[in-house]
Amino acid sequence: MVETKVREYLPGDEESIVDLLIKVFGGWPHFNLNCSPLEHWRWKYLDNPKKLNAVCVAEDKGLIVGCEHGLFIDVKIGDDLVLAQLSGDAAIDPRHQGEGLYSKINKFRNTLPPMRRMDYSFWVTTNKKMIEFSRRRNYPRFPRRVSLMIRVKDLDLHFRLHKSDFALFKRLGYLTLANIGKIRFDSRERVQGDYAIKSIKKFGEGIDIFWASVQPYYSYIVARARDYLNWRYCDPRAGDNYIIQAEDDSGSLGYCVYKINRFNPNYHEGLIMDLITLPGRVDVAQGLLVSALDYLDDSGVNLVSCWGVEGQSNTGVLRGLGFVDSRAPLDLSHRWVSRQVDESKLLAAPPDKLHCQMGDLDF
Ligand SMILES: CC(C)(COP(=O)(O)OP(=O)(O)OC[C@H]1O[C@@H](n2cnc3c(N)ncnc32)[C@H](O)[C@@H]1OP(=O)(O)O)[C@@H](O)C(=O)NCCC(=O)NCCS
Repeated sequence: MVETKVREYLPGDEESIVDLLIKVFGGWPHFNLNCSPLEHWRWKYLDNPKKLNAVCVAEDKGLIVGCEHGLFIDVKIGDDLVLAQLSGDAAIDPRHQGEGLYSKINKFRNTLPPMRRMDYSFWVTTNKKMIEFSRRRNYPRFPRRVSLMIRVKDLDLHFRLHKSDFALFKRLGYLTLANIGKIRFDSRERVQGDYAIKSIKKFGEGIDIFWASVQPYYSYIVARARDYLNWRYCDPRAGDNYIIQAEDDSGSLGYCVYKINRFNPNYHEGLIMDLITLPGRVDVAQGLLVSALDYLDDSGVNLVSCWGVEGQSNTGVLRGLGFVDSRAPLDLSHRWVSRQVDESKLLAAPPDKLHCQMGDLDF
């Protein structure tokens, strides 16, 4: 165990924290920005709609060698809107990894007043050590499996740039799954909607009407109020997001947020960050996705990723458009803090009522 001091973040720590994130993650964040990483950090943790965070650091001889972050948002679970803490950006300097420092920060962070006041804490990770950490503590998972769905246009190009021992095996598996998905979707009846898809720069007042009308339907959903969405996707420090909205005379029928991740200059990746429609409007979801994919294809993107909730209609739409489950580890865990909700209702809820998108947890 190292003699390291763990404490709450203090103004003035920002640069050292961001330097640590860049060192540990090999660049941070892992997508291109129109601002400095420091401005991005400020956007995320200081300027979020609730102006609330729970950031802790570990100091060794005056140097910041570890950190863990949290920001607060509203999530509708069951019939209630709960105050939730989204954890992320946990990083320990490689020289101190495996010394119990993360566990120490995590334990200390949980004693901070906002961490004790909130209802629910949730996080996503692909790090095997962190997945085991959550499993050892028996933290519950999201009620349905959430997978990273991918659509690859040119498999040869993909495997040339992502050297893999199982390239041939994966290639055959991908093609089979992609074709099965397409056949399934093609055999369904498609309803052609009478609506327009428009590109928007900001969410207008209509999005609050949309949110009010969809909210009662969902058993689990991150609250999509206008101020939250404009902060999350439209602030210039959030990254380059494209937003398209489906509209008819009655207003918004849904929207899709996507982006091109140019972090790897040799291989740009399309990301479907957020997709939501009025309940039952699978046709609108399909229309929005087709429009987003057209744009991404025209931009020369070879790989597009999107989260898919097992059993959900929109996951069927993704399969129909050539997406397959990448089988990449993706773990969504949570714990209840100042209240306990009976999760059996969530487990029994139809998958369409459990909304979960990449942009909700993966910032
Ligand atoms: C993931 C990370 C934050 C963990 O920090 P750490 O200080 O090395 O972790 P700790 O030593 O506190 O160990 C954390 C837990 O993992 C366990 N662990 C440690 N080394 C492990 C290993 N090699 N394999 C599996 N589990 C391991 C510990 O036993 C501990 O669990 P416990 O509290 O139940 O005993 C750190 O490795 C890191 O910065 N990784 C790179 C960045 C990253 O991926 N961050 C996570 C983003 S969600």
